[in-house]
Amino acid sequence: MKTHNFTLTIEDGIATLVFDIPDSKVNILNHQSMEELNNHLDALKKNTEVKVLRFVSAKKDIFIAGADITEIRSLDDCDTAYDVVRHGQIILEKIAYLPFPTIAVIDGACLGGGFELALRCTYRIATENKATKIGLPEVNLGVIPGFGGTQTLQKLIGPSKALEIILGAKYINGAKALKLGMVDACVPQGYLDFKLAAFTQSILNPIEQEGILKKRYQHTLIERLTPWVITMVAHKTVMEKTKGHYPAPLAVIEIFKKTNSMDSTRALEFEARTFAEMAVTPESKNLISVYFALEAVKNEKALVSKEALLPVKFTSVIGGGAMGGGIVWLFAKMDLLVRLYARSFDKAAQTLQHVAQSFEFLKKRRRLNAREVDMKLSLISYGTDLSSFGHSDLAIEAIVEDMATKKETFKALEAVMRDDAIIATNTSSLSINLLSSDMQHPERFIGMHFFNPVEQMPLVEIIPSKDTKPEVIATIVSLAKKAGKTPIVVNDCPGFLVNRILLPYINECAKMVHQGEGVERIDTLIEAFGMPMGPFVLADTVGLDVGYKVASVLHQGYGERMEVSNLLDRAYNELHLLGKKAKRGFYIHDGKKKTLNPDIQALQLSKVHLSDEEVMDRAMLIMVNEAAYCLQEGIVKNAQHLDVAMIMGTGFPPFRGGLLKYADTYGLEKILHALLRLRDKYGMRFEPAPLLQELAHKGSTFYKGIK
Ligand code: NAI
Repeated sequence: MKTHNFTLTIEDGIATLVFDIPDSKVNILNHQSMEELNNHLDALKKNTEVKVLRFVSAKKDIFIAGADITEIRSLDDCDTAYDVVRHGQIILEKIAYLPFPTIAVIDGACLGGGFELALRCTYRIATENKATKIGLPEVNLGVIPGFGGTQTLQKLIGPSKALEIILGAKYINGAKALKLGMVDACVPQGYLDFKLAAFTQSILNPIEQEGILKKRYQHTLIERLTPWVITMVAHKTVMEKTKGHYPAPLAVIEIFKKTNSMDSTRALEFEARTFAEMAVTPESKNLISVYFALEAVKNEKALVSKEALLPVKFTSVIGGGAMGGGIVWLFAKMDLLVRLYARSFDKAAQTLQHVAQSFEFLKKRRRLNAREVDMKLSLISYGTDLSSFGHSDLAIEAIVEDMATKKETFKALEAVMRDDAIIATNTSSLSINLLSSDMQHPERFIGMHFFNPVEQMPLVEIIPSKDTKPEVIATIVSLAKKAGKTPIVVNDCPGFLVNRILLPYINECAKMVHQGEGVERIDTLIEAFGMPMGPFVLADTVGLDVGYKVASVLHQGYGERMEVSNLLDRAYNELHLLGKKAKRGFYIHDGKKKTLNPDIQALQLSKVHLSDEEVMDRAMLIMVNEAAYCLQEGIVKNAQHLDVAMIMGTGFPPFRGGLLKYADTYGLEKILHALLRLRDKYGMRFEPAPLLQELAHKGSTFYKGIK
């Protein structure tokens, strides 16, 4: 029997329900597919011919990707949200009450509502397919598993593991899922049909069936006797990690706590009520906005066809400092041959030590084994003479941030490399057009701006010059994606996108300290807003030298608007403060401890106490204003791209939806008035950008105004 999204076949009592949403790459549980499923389950319940039912997907690499996120986004009142999710629970619960056993056949992504469906089955069989990832990542969208997942998963694998998986929004592969008891078997993908047939037969045999069920997870003593210990520890961990900014993980813990003594219907109702409360929070709406922004960036159309991409097999990295070392590690991790250029063997040895340490970290985390690490390390070579770098398909420069020195290096590289091989720079602020102005082949030159530390930061800004060929841009975008990073193509300007927006914020905070406000107070307020660290902890971490250099390039590029704060200037040039790496910056660092640096206090003009509102407006609105200039000048495609860049490059709090989503929520008209007040008080750096003025006057927003 075939309906719009499902096909049901029954052969020798074995029923197979194949899920296949037409004209879609994925299966999702939306209103229509849920209603159809409901009808199938009602009919199957009465079918006396069926001995076993199997849920299968016809999609490649996807079982069910989850519930429909656009439907979750559209929920804006709690009662409707409750009705929708409770109805979904009731449908999936029907699977558990069918008069025959059921099997979920998981070959591909099985996430959120998809896994909640699988959890309602009597058995689950997964494949070793790399695309098989199983989990309940709802908290990433500011909601909770609402189709019974908080109850069914803890029954299956115990509350500790269930909480860990839900709170961590973890994706578990087939083998690990088997180990954790989330599935009953994990089979090689190529043998799925054969193994499924055997598994189906075995569960029809009562003795074998008992054998499978016996292997199921047994709850530990702590779980049975003192379940509150588990939720108490989880609460502490979540608060440490999120500082309470994300309500959904805390709500999950509350469910685990409260439903412990409830019967299953009341527990499900409680879960549904909690889901409804979470679905209407601004945090959830913002996290969903970030999800769609990320999808938009990911699905950005390539500039050229796959065939036109340039080969990147032999790579080289010029300069093995903090960034160069990270890039060498990344390329080796990607199984690319990589040659490091360092000015001396000693320097090369230091870099290789950095690379080895980064691999050691992956080994400890069991992401790679010792043999894999050895193989990857063996891909790295080094040299102290650029003439031995001629074979490179791609050379990326990561030496000192100095225009003349970088230009000399490009000249030397052009002398030995093929004319069509790519030369990239990791500069954090220098103009790509200027850097390539003396090159013989500027069309092969591009900015590939990784963030520090390369090992952890997901963003790569890609900056073509006016001459860069589309093939070069597409090749570098594709390389960044293969590295697991999120590439965002931006246009050339001093500081590019992220630093151009971030530096004025650090600079403005330094100006507040110069005026007399406390370093710690500003850091505390900004952390309470949700930034991963305050501006001064950030400046000390990045290095005052790095920050000062970028701030100076921006000052040169944009004039008065970005005049370097007198305090930052003196801290670097007179006091020679470098930040954490030399233990002295805005703070004095002693291991994990930090205290205020009195030398900074000595630079203050007086003591002032600014209102919380003024501190936050000066810090945040100066960024919003610069972001408006970037949009207006076409530095970045739209508000979604900009928000993804700020979240991935600076850790701007995702629960606020990104910088421009935050601005839209704040209200552009309110922002305009606040900027005008600040301009009158502190000068033209707060003059509102023309685009911001225009959108505010129209009553529009960044998200609506710029497509
Ligand atoms: P770093 O000071 O840690 O390393 C620079 C390395 O380049 C050192 O090993 C130095 O010996 C070497 N070097 C200097 N001049 C050289 C030359 N003429 N030839 C060969 N090697 C030379 O600097 P870092 O932080 O790695 O920065 C490198 C580049 O990456 C700069 O352009 C910087 O603006 C950019 N960048 C830095 C970030 C950061 O947070 N540190 C973030 C993103 C980009």
